[in-house]
Amino acid sequence: MNKVLIIGSGGREHALAWKLARECEVHALPGNPGIEEIGQCHPGDVADLAEVARLARNIAADLVLVGPENPLLEGLADVLRSEGLVCFGPGKREALLEGSKAFAKELMVEAGVPTAWGRVCRSFSEGEEAVQTLHQMGKRPVVKASGAALGKGVTVCNDLREALLALERTMVELEFGEAGRTVVVEERLEGREFSLLTVCSGEAYWSLPVAQDYKRAEDGDRGPNTGGMGSVSPTPWVTEDLVREAEEKIVAPILRALSQRGLDYRGVLFSGLMVQDGEVFCLEYNVRFGDPETQSVVARLGDGFYELLLETGRGGRPQPIGERPEAAVTVVLTSGGYPGAYAKGLPIVVPSEVPSDTILFHAGTARRDGDLVTAGGRVFGATGLGPTVQEARRRAYKLADLVQFDGKRFRSDIGAYED
Ligand SMILES: Nc1ncnc2c1ncn2[C@@H]1O[C@H](COP(=O)(O)OP(=O)(O)OP(=O)(O)O)[C@@H](O)[C@H]1O
Ligand SMILES: [Mg+2]
Repeated sequence: MNKVLIIGSGGREHALAWKLARECEVHALPGNPGIEEIGQCHPGDVADLAEVARLARNIAADLVLVGPENPLLEGLADVLRSEGLVCFGPGKREALLEGSKAFAKELMVEAGVPTAWGRVCRSFSEGEEAVQTLHQMGKRPVVKASGAALGKGVTVCNDLREALLALERTMVELEFGEAGRTVVVEERLEGREFSLLTVCSGEAYWSLPVAQDYKRAEDGDRGPNTGGMGSVSPTPWVTEDLVREAEEKIVAPILRALSQRGLDYRGVLFSGLMVQDGEVFCLEYNVRFGDPETQSVVARLGDGFYELLLETGRGGRPQPIGERPEAAVTVVLTSGGYPGAYAKGLPIVVPSEVPSDTILFHAGTARRDGDLVTAGGRVFGATGLGPTVQEARRRAYKLADLVQFDGKRFRSDIGAYED
């Protein structure tokens, strides 16, 4: 039987494992208690690239699928490929699309990708000049740390004063560490956001069903930003035409620009998009699957996911796979206090059998003396499938109610108003 080795330990990785377990043998490094139920988890440090390669060779993995961005930014895919292994995930130079917002902005401009007007600034005075320029244009600024900042390095500002403070914190106080030595200052756009996950190999691509995520901690999109509180797929307002437009304007040109530089992107390209006055703009690229979008997306995919990832990893054309007609809603259950400080190690009770058409994805859980305990901010994703978003949502919340741990919290409006 074919073997896949999945790198990572979150809800996204459990969702990928759940999908792939129907089609091949699943191994994970380090995995989580949910993955343990459907595959084999191997202890180890994903930051140790040689160790990852050794494990892949030892278990004779046919495919290595990398979940999180950090190992990709460090060059894991290059190490694996140099040893003759097949990896789904871009190499270090391609991963700069996520690892350096400065690189991404420059390449977007070069490739003619529609994006907010912006400047790459390498000193505070350059930053100041850029926010002043935006101010004179009557625009509000966004200040982005260029490097990897765990999704926290972006400040969306209301005025000049806020932008100057953000610059100070990012570039001078180095609140996001070295990631903030270079910033991108750009125009603040207004509109609705969606993300497009596209499987890419060189200049060939195929987009997965569209999902929408919920970033803010509280109902009604209020409260602090989080890693993601839920997701819904499909999103009725994202029409097929809009997806085609995004592919043509945002995905295809950036792949061409990479290829012109001798680069070969093999993996999933996550385009963060905003529709302003009916026009689509690229806010950012990520070089991996989104979490928790992936939970809702894979629940809706037909058969052939393993072959799709394998062919792409080998440099072949991504072959489209089917889409199930059901809608999917994922509600993230968090530890009390998240995204601020929260307790770990609290006992968890999960139903011995989940209701029909639901899946419980583990994210921040661990086993302690055999018992399941909390081990992270985002603890589970409760996914429901149904003929409509409303029905999928009802099932997801039914499952969310059945899971118990102290301090459990979730948003109550995931997928509301979508039908
Ligand atoms: N130009 C912009 N105009 C308005 N809002 C923006 C702009 N750029 C970013 N944002 C907002 O800030 C959020 C984060 O920005 P961005 O996606 O660039 O950062 P990130 O930290 O890499 O995010 P992620 O963790 O999703 O990868 C966006 O989802 C969007 O809501
Ligand atoms: Mg990003």
